[in-house]
Amino acid sequence: MTQEKIRELISQMTLEEKAGMCSGEDFWHTKAVERLGIPKSMVSDGPHGLRKQDAMSDHLGVNESIKAVCFPAGCGAAASFNRELLEDMGKTLGNECQAEGVSVILGPAINIKRSPLCGRNFEYYSEDPLLATQMAGALIKGVQSKHVGTSIKHFFANNQETRRMSSTSEMDERTMREIYLAAFEGAIAKEKPWTVMCSYNRINGVYAAENKMALTDILRGEWGFDGYVVSDWGAVNRRVSDLEAGLDLEMPSSGGENDKLIVEAVSNGTLSESVLDTAVERILNIIYRFVENRDESAVFDRDADHEKARKIAEETVVLLKNQEILPIPKTKKVAFIGKYAKQPRYQGGGSSHINSHKVTSAVEAAYGLYNVTYAEGFRDDVDQTEDALLQEAIEIAEQADVAVVFAGLPDAFESEGFDRNHMRMPECQNELIQKISEVQPNIVVVLHNGSPVEMPWENKVKGIIEAYLGGQAIGGAVVDIIFGNINPSGRLPETFPLQLEDNPSFLYYIGEGDVVEYREGIFVGYRYYDKKKMPVLFPFGHGLSYTDFAYSRLRVSKEHILDTETLKVTVDVTNTGDMAGKEVIQLYVAEKESAVIRPEKELRDFTKVKLEPGETKTVEFELTSRAFAYWNTQIHNWYVETGEFDILIGKSSRDIVLSKTVEVKGTTKLQVKYTLDTTFGDIMKDERAVEILQPLMKLDIFADDKEEGVAAAAISKEMREAMIKYMPIRGAVSFGGDCTLDELQSLLDQLNE
Ligand code: BGC
Repeated sequence: MTQEKIRELISQMTLEEKAGMCSGEDFWHTKAVERLGIPKSMVSDGPHGLRKQDAMSDHLGVNESIKAVCFPAGCGAAASFNRELLEDMGKTLGNECQAEGVSVILGPAINIKRSPLCGRNFEYYSEDPLLATQMAGALIKGVQSKHVGTSIKHFFANNQETRRMSSTSEMDERTMREIYLAAFEGAIAKEKPWTVMCSYNRINGVYAAENKMALTDILRGEWGFDGYVVSDWGAVNRRVSDLEAGLDLEMPSSGGENDKLIVEAVSNGTLSESVLDTAVERILNIIYRFVENRDESAVFDRDADHEKARKIAEETVVLLKNQEILPIPKTKKVAFIGKYAKQPRYQGGGSSHINSHKVTSAVEAAYGLYNVTYAEGFRDDVDQTEDALLQEAIEIAEQADVAVVFAGLPDAFESEGFDRNHMRMPECQNELIQKISEVQPNIVVVLHNGSPVEMPWENKVKGIIEAYLGGQAIGGAVVDIIFGNINPSGRLPETFPLQLEDNPSFLYYIGEGDVVEYREGIFVGYRYYDKKKMPVLFPFGHGLSYTDFAYSRLRVSKEHILDTETLKVTVDVTNTGDMAGKEVIQLYVAEKESAVIRPEKELRDFTKVKLEPGETKTVEFELTSRAFAYWNTQIHNWYVETGEFDILIGKSSRDIVLSKTVEVKGTTKLQVKYTLDTTFGDIMKDERAVEILQPLMKLDIFADDKEEGVAAAAISKEMREAMIKYMPIRGAVSFGGDCTLDELQSLLDQLNE
């Protein structure tokens, strides 16, 4: 519908109808205005499948939803490092929504994984904002290509479940921009999601729902967002100021309470009616965008989508460790041990919980095809070793050539609504692995978890497969990887620290009361571990393959560029093994020297290529200024310093295989104002200053000829230089410079002109 028509429609609406349009009729629908022919419109969770509730509704996954297909959760989806795959997953979800009449699917959820403890990490993508935003962008692109909207969430800085509705995430401007906003920025600016969901929490004291800086200035002003902002379910705190800040749609319904407040505020003149009209216009835009593009022929083919879920799952599995144990030859006798072999933990609890139409377990996928036995091994409803289960597991492990233990985190350990309080697996599972290692040297552990775990048994097993929460078809994908039908190609979208205490947010997570200080700043995930050169269990970007890849011929289009130019980077990758496989090529950028404290390196691009044995492909990246920039708090903008930058090609953040240095010239000049308090060191960086101020550098007490006898021992050349460098200009008057304060000031005035 054209803008004029929508505006005409709005002009016919009563004040009450307009206020009503800004909140839900129930849990999942916007209101209809029948007399004007405005239909109601349905939204549903999200993000990795359709949780459409036809009868009883709730936002925590309590009541039944329709039978649907559960795709890999965000943790796994991001591990694919494959944008096309996520776009395809998005298309499938979009088609399901068309078939079910759902206008907006509530996802992707991409909050940064600040700590391994966040209960909702399984839904989220990464500790790295570039990976998160690009993978989310791909999913959005896919869904929206089917004329169905997405709701990227939870905007923003919602990085824990504890007190999620009242806590304030306290962070500095650079951290906000480089990490927490950046996770949303790329996806929103490039893929234009139809809606954005604001989070429950406060940011530096201001609720996300009434955060004008976030919802209007940044989202719309800077990133060009043109859809509607919806509240997370129940996130509205003060309806009228929320509306003014840019929060258009309140979900679910407030039983008319908040609508009344809007009507009152317009009637008594405290809220301009045009603010309300704008929100209604944004909501109607999206409603009609869906209505007018309905695909009545769309069919939700659950079996076909199950197969898609399986294809996607294949790329979300990360091979963490392999000491010549995998793939297991098909003729070997293999013991599948652990409850999750038969009942995989393939999704997390809460609002994203899908009512799967079927689930394929590893046992089901392997039986009949391979020589596999099964024992349950442990219970996951209580963390307690059960001797009978343990004994049975030990027995079949002893009789087999290889034991594959399917372990991980039970539902009770991670879910929406609460955070983990440690990073360990249940003790009974650790004990099971330990006991099996006493009778069987050939062990592979398959993990089902949404977030890192400590692995005290790591050196007792030969193989580790991180299967994440891989969706309802994960069993088939894992079996194909175990027996070598599929070559694993997932990479870790997060660091696995050795222990929780190593995590940079450890000291401050989950805050004091409602105040959560992000004191680690920009040093989240590998940005911290790499800078500290700390040993980790598995680094960001890590993932093994059954074949080998060699890198060569790293080239750059230019060795000196302006920050307004684009740098082309190319590199050749060859499959030197004898199995076809997919490799993820990661490009990091590192500034050699900076005036600000920067991470050692940052992921700036990545790509995934499929290579047959012996095949070589040339991959190309294009870097623009953002790849070199940091957020400068003086100009409140991205800023590139002039200097040298290393272009690093890696197989992970810890395995850099090739590098090349380029010189970038920044074209943005920072305004400097010199005062009498400016140091000599800082002022001398200005070429114009050197000549004018040179005479003052020969300050009496620091002169060379003083360095004799005792003085020579007391004042080294280094000390003298440092004293001058860090001396304010006014020091010239006190320490023998031949000038007055007035003369100095007039020199500074000249420079400041
Ligand atoms: C969750 C959202 C979800 C909404 C609707 C909230 O509790 O935080 O992610 O989309 O409920 O179910």
